[in-house]
Amino acid sequence: MQHWWRDAVLYQVYPRSFADADGDGTGDIAGITARLGHVADLGADGIWLSPFYTSPWADGGYDVADFRDVDPRLGTLEDFDAMVAAAHALGLRVMVDIVPNHTSEEHPWFRKALEAGPGSPERELYVFRDGRGADGGLPPTNWRSTFGGPAWTRAADGQWYLHMFAPEQPDLNWGDPRVREEFRGILRFWSGRGVDGFRIDVAYALVKDLDEPLRDLVLVEGGRFEDILANPDHPFLDRPEVHEVYRDWRRVLAEFDPPPATVGEVWLPSERRVLYTRPDELDQAFNFDFLRTAWDADAYRRVIDSSIADAAQVGTVPTWVIGNHDVVRPVSVLGLPAGTDQGAWLLSDGHDPEPDLELGTRRARALALLELSLPGSAYVYQGEELGLPEVADLPAESLEDPRWVRSGHTDKGRDGCRVPLPWTVEGASYGFSGAGGDAVGSEEPGSAPWLPQPEGWGRWSVQAQADDPGSVLSLYRRALAHRGEFSSDEVLTWDDTLNRGPVLAYWRGGDVLVLVNTGEEAVELPPGRVLVASVETDGRLPGNAAVWLRRE
Ligand code: GLC
Repeated sequence: MQHWWRDAVLYQVYPRSFADADGDGTGDIAGITARLGHVADLGADGIWLSPFYTSPWADGGYDVADFRDVDPRLGTLEDFDAMVAAAHALGLRVMVDIVPNHTSEEHPWFRKALEAGPGSPERELYVFRDGRGADGGLPPTNWRSTFGGPAWTRAADGQWYLHMFAPEQPDLNWGDPRVREEFRGILRFWSGRGVDGFRIDVAYALVKDLDEPLRDLVLVEGGRFEDILANPDHPFLDRPEVHEVYRDWRRVLAEFDPPPATVGEVWLPSERRVLYTRPDELDQAFNFDFLRTAWDADAYRRVIDSSIADAAQVGTVPTWVIGNHDVVRPVSVLGLPAGTDQGAWLLSDGHDPEPDLELGTRRARALALLELSLPGSAYVYQGEELGLPEVADLPAESLEDPRWVRSGHTDKGRDGCRVPLPWTVEGASYGFSGAGGDAVGSEEPGSAPWLPQPEGWGRWSVQAQADDPGSVLSLYRRALAHRGEFSSDEVLTWDDTLNRGPVLAYWRGGDVLVLVNTGEEAVELPPGRVLVASVETDGRLPGNAAVWLRRE
């Protein structure tokens, strides 16, 4: 039997920004339940929920204080169970996010570690070290936090603790068996509540080389890819020992029938990423090579071929991703002037240069048809199906992403892709906040959304798009309605005649031809019935457009 996730389309819900049932300005679990119909109508196979656990929200919930409970501002465990039941009744799977690299500073383990002092077993659950220099006043190594600044913070008693992310997110010590046992328990807890899978946060970073003396890194500009290339024997990324964690997790998940699926967040080049998806490890890993690819047919050909070939090496199929809650929205990235370093821009705050949103939207529509027609599974981040752009001009006082503060107020961070969704054309929060439990989307004003929605946000709302055949939402719905006709066939066959220059052309499921024109000039369409097109086609496929054709 083919595993459900191999060709699934998963819709990523960022809970604080999806739908707010209780009207406090923050999305919640009851809001998700009330809006699941949107995901079902879209034709997705399930949802992946970013963290909703008890958290002080130093990093939007990726700083977890209790891995086995729902944050009270988002609801209760009962609300969660009701949401899972409602999703299952609609035929939707539910994947949840597991954050095993670090805890919140408010997690009881970390509080006890601070109290217990140097040399205690409590401190062994984290990575505490003495500093360098005469009085230990310098960090133990030169390691940098992903959000800027040193990866070490000094505790009151003088020792330093490691945090790859914000100081409020101390890294766990995966060399300690208690940490491993705790996460086995967390996986069992949520599997027992009926979840269908787990997304694993920074899956390639849990295990560190902590042998003394700790090693300094070669510091380079850029993101994870650059870091790992400059430091081949990296002390905390992609350690060979991390794979044993996932072999162990596979055995734990095998206790459930069917075993929940796993997808890892692994920001590594493809050939190293797929090692995490060997048959006895995770099922899938997000394909960030695809997300980083510029709007260029040759670049797409290369990344499609290598993604498929690398995945095949380990007996799996690729995933396809064009956005998530950490990167600038595709409409804005694709609207950048030619020659912009798209890869670098993706991880920036979407500010400079100014994107051409009309062009970006046109390309994002075509990219959706590319993404959704490739063999394997696809992850759609909430709002992609509405063609939402990045909100690049959020007022400084509303920013919550730790990157803003940690960068010394130079990088606005990732809030621009996390602005609460618009559901209705009008209304105080464009239908995001309802006035009561059942009133999601009512006209009643709730509190202001936790991030301000720009003027005119309702123009991208579900209500504005649902009945418009030319909308991005209608395009996604049509594409997902047809995708099932070929998606279980895992083969992509390039068309030797048509696949040339700026035009990508390949066959799926035997008789569906996909054409993506990344150039500016229109090209003749071969005979066939149009299943779905990103623009009016009329016998020709214009530039920056895509079509799925069925051979007659
Ligand atoms: C992952 C998450 C990101 C978070 C980080 C630390 O990269 O996707 O949102 O900030 O991990 O948990």
